[in-house]
Amino acid sequence: MYSIAIDGPSGVGKSTLAKALAKRLGITYLDTGAMYRAMAWKALSLGIDPNDEERVKTFVDDVKIEVKYKDGVQQIFVDGTDVSLAIREHHMSKASSDISRHNCVRTKLVAMQREIASNQSVVLDGRDITSVVLPHAEYKFFLTAKAEVRAERRAKELEAKGNVVDFAKILKDIEERDYNDSHRANSPLTLTPDSVLVDSSNMTAAEVLEYILGFIKEE
Ligand code: DC
Repeated sequence: MYSIAIDGPSGVGKSTLAKALAKRLGITYLDTGAMYRAMAWKALSLGIDPNDEERVKTFVDDVKIEVKYKDGVQQIFVDGTDVSLAIREHHMSKASSDISRHNCVRTKLVAMQREIASNQSVVLDGRDITSVVLPHAEYKFFLTAKAEVRAERRAKELEAKGNVVDFAKILKDIEERDYNDSHRANSPLTLTPDSVLVDSSNMTAAEVLEYILGFIKEE
């Protein structure tokens, strides 16, 4: 049994990489960002501002977040409702970044993530996996890319789906989330000294996958 921990900023391709790794290695993938997004969905569904810690506290203990897998694809449920698609809406990115600052939210979700990782081989991706959730993971990676490159990739994805793209706005959103996620007091995004730093600015997703696989002995 072994764990692979991957951290990095928004839009760097962590989940694409982690999914592909899990598939190649035949292990479980846990997208921890989806759990923060699920918490944000709950707050918004109650009309609660994700920044309002006192009001967020009123539901965190009782809300039931469940991670399930259907044909190998992660699904996420909040109090029995499948929110897998709803949490991907654009406004959920900022809301999840905001709610992820609160200790009460992190304590609950980190415990769930450790529980999932405790009895099977896993690959987890997020912001605090190498530093807090699984500091003793066998394999630790920090995936990064320049903000402009991440914004360009995001713009291309949106264009491919037929959207009209405002590049400056996409870049601003990414920079804002980078700042938010790496400057919060609780478990900020950090490069731990024992993580392998991978700058994917000039690499394709396939190249990143092969590079990372080169470190994994259990394949
Ligand atoms: O990876 P993502 O964009 O789906 O994550 C949404 C937000 O959740 C992100 O802006 C910061 C937060 N997050 C976190 O604080 N810790 C994690 N392990 C994963 C995500």
